[in-house]
Amino acid sequence: MNDFHRAEIADQELADAMDKLVIVKSAIYTSGERDPRQPPPRQDTAGRLHLMGHDPRLAKMPDKPTLFDFFRLRFGPAIHMLQSARLALNNGCDEKVILACLLHDCSAAGFIRADHGYWAAQLIAPYVDEEVAFAVRYHQVLRFYPDETFGYKYPDSYIRLFGPDYKPEPYLDRAYEHCRNHRWYRTARLLTVNDLYSFDPNVHVELEEFTDIVGRNFRQPPEGLGFDDSPSAHMWRTINWPTRYL
Ligand SMILES: [Fe+2]
Ligand SMILES: [Fe+2]
Repeated sequence: MNDFHRAEIADQELADAMDKLVIVKSAIYTSGERDPRQPPPRQDTAGRLHLMGHDPRLAKMPDKPTLFDFFRLRFGPAIHMLQSARLALNNGCDEKVILACLLHDCSAAGFIRADHGYWAAQLIAPYVDEEVAFAVRYHQVLRFYPDETFGYKYPDSYIRLFGPDYKPEPYLDRAYEHCRNHRWYRTARLLTVNDLYSFDPNVHVELEEFTDIVGRNFRQPPEGLGFDDSPSAHMWRTINWPTRYL
């Protein structure tokens, strides 16, 4: 059997699986494209079961998924986070900052973009030092506020993305004040300093470069992320199986 045949069979198997299943999207995935006050579009469900596990359109995760499995199979191309972690490493930052850089945009990459610092901090909190989760939570906020003592300016990219008149919401001003006066401000600020504005497609970084730092600083649960009953296990499960009916 050649590669073309194998691909054809895989396509057919996927089509067969899809025929047997009803796969719906959570409200948040379509809100904005669709008015959430209206009922969701009706699907023909006759003779089909609602999906309650792995989505056949996605790469299957191992039964006990590790952080790196999520990076490889669910966090899109994670090159921005990898380059940020490499930069922190080259800048001589300590391992907490390097780990924070490696993880900081995991929500935007694989889960939810709005308030991504907060979501990411919640995802990782059970497994990392509190200071790492703090830095990840506030990096999103600090990006809006310059600090010349760290050489951090308001990003030009934000002027392009949000326009010159954009002003952070009052909740961001409050969060900034809180972070600014916190003993871990420096850690969060170092994350923004190493959070590259644009990634260089020519700089290749392997996940394995961070195996030891992750091993020392991320408490990988033996049951696998999503199956360890931690306060964020349900969030990891949702990333693993995003289209389950319940
Ligand atoms: Fe970010
Ligand atoms: Fe980032």
